Amino acid sequence: MTLRSFDGAEPEIHEDAFVHPAAEVIGDVTLEADAPVPGVWDPELLERLAGGPAEVWTEDGSAGREGLVLEGIDLADDPLLLGCGPDPMLGALADLAADRGAELQVSVEEHMGCGVGTCQGCVVRSADGRWVKSCVEGPVFEADELDWSVPHA
Ligand code: FES
Repeated sequence: MTLRSFDGAEPEIHEDAFVHPAAEVIGDVTLEADAPVPGVWDPELLERLAGGPAEVWTEDGSAGREGLVLEGIDLADDPLLLGCGPDPMLGALADLAADRGAELQVSVEEHMGCGVGTCQGCVVRSADGRWVKSCVEGPVFEADELDWSVPHA
């Protein structure tokens, strides 16, 4: 692990906190002893983040239930679906929501060069054929606002 100061701020890492040996920690970062470890499923943390019961699915069953997360979505109570993740998964989720008449909002994961709408590095194709900048018009969209038949940026 490499620690670097930035703008006068030094990272503060507790000796018991996990940080990957190859990580570079820069500036105003504080990690306590019980900081969550990325890549380790912590059911309590997931439930806190989700605001309720959370269920983990992995394709290989290495954590939680085995299978695709789409298999585990219960649409019986007409939920509002919130999706984030890679485009193919969001596209499949958008198809599922459209087929079942469920409302879906997605947070797209486009790379953002400038974050203020000038570089056009973050564009996604809208359902009406326009390219929209996810940094200023998103990154959260109603799924039916986007065209899932074309790859995004
Ligand atoms: S990140 Fe540059 S236009 Fe969106």
